[in-house]
Amino acid sequence: TWTMVNIVDEQVERIRAEVGSKRVICGLSGGVDSAVAGALVQRAVGEQLTCVFVDHGLLRKGEAEQVEKDYVAATGARLKVVDAQDRFLDALAGVSDPEEKRKIIGREFIRVFEQAAREVVAEAGAGGEEVEFLVQGTLYPDVVESGGGTGTANIKSHHNVGGLPDDLAFTLVEPLRELFKDEVRRVGEELGLPPEMVWRQPFPGPGLGIRIVGEVTRDRLEVLRDADAIAREELTRAGLDRDIWQCPVVLLAGVRSVGVQGDGRTYGHPVVLRPVSSEDAMTADWSRLPYDVLAAISNRITNEVREINRVVLDVTSKPPGTIEWE
Ligand code: XMP
Repeated sequence: TWTMVNIVDEQVERIRAEVGSKRVICGLSGGVDSAVAGALVQRAVGEQLTCVFVDHGLLRKGEAEQVEKDYVAATGARLKVVDAQDRFLDALAGVSDPEEKRKIIGREFIRVFEQAAREVVAEAGAGGEEVEFLVQGTLYPDVVESGGGTGTANIKSHHNVGGLPDDLAFTLVEPLRELFKDEVRRVGEELGLPPEMVWRQPFPGPGLGIRIVGEVTRDRLEVLRDADAIAREELTRAGLDRDIWQCPVVLLAGVRSVGVQGDGRTYGHPVVLRPVSSEDAMTADWSRLPYDVLAAISNRITNEVREINRVVLDVTSKPPGTIEWE
């Protein structure tokens, strides 16, 4: 629309004025905000931008490919992908405590991003240009919440952890600072980003790592990824994507129950569906999903995901329950 065109044009002008001929780095998380912020900067300064995507192996089905293929195709951005899946899974081995998981994921993320940023800086330096700017997908509500200051880099927006070391102190470029989430999505559409990316529901930085109650392993991630993909597909098919705030699917890895699947007795794991309605995630109510949608999700998951023999529905509001289980 006209206003979105205005916002894009205005931000592109501002970014050009701010960045000049310097180089810029942007961390992509797979989420909406970093994707739109990066796409705006790409539109403004093109080749001066390098995007970095750390694949920690905790994203949902298809999300890493979305960044690596669809995002690059839509924006033309130069992308550096770091496959850090083994590193994250090794660091998470044997860990069940939710806060411990968050700490490990946050710590590894910073280390891997820092290393990638150093490489980008070194590559650029060899070409004679300094990398001076780091893109952040800070939104207006984040600005208000944090008291409004700008500063040097600390990539905490989606990982809730500390910043980069002093020798990697960038100036921040925050092209979304005046926008609300719905405006960010519309800017994303205007920039031609894939709808699945633009309309993606909130997803925690630590990803599926905090949706497996118990230790995070490759096998469990695969099971959860399949179940989650089915739930998302059925919600989309029912046209409910934009009505619900998010619908975590949680694997109870430490729980087994008896079932009958096919010809035999099974002893599998349950998954929990946690559909919620919310305005801002501070409070939430459980979504009254239509029974036929719940039935479709349950039937498909228990038919198609061998390890899952039970699907249960979380009917707790927040408070007292948080949206995520961990
Ligand atoms: P809770 O579970 O606290 O979640 O009700 C509120 C919102 O925040 C998301 N969430 C996180 N986001 N890092 C994030 O970036 C985290 O560690 C984290 N934990 C929860 C959650 O998905 C929901 O949208």
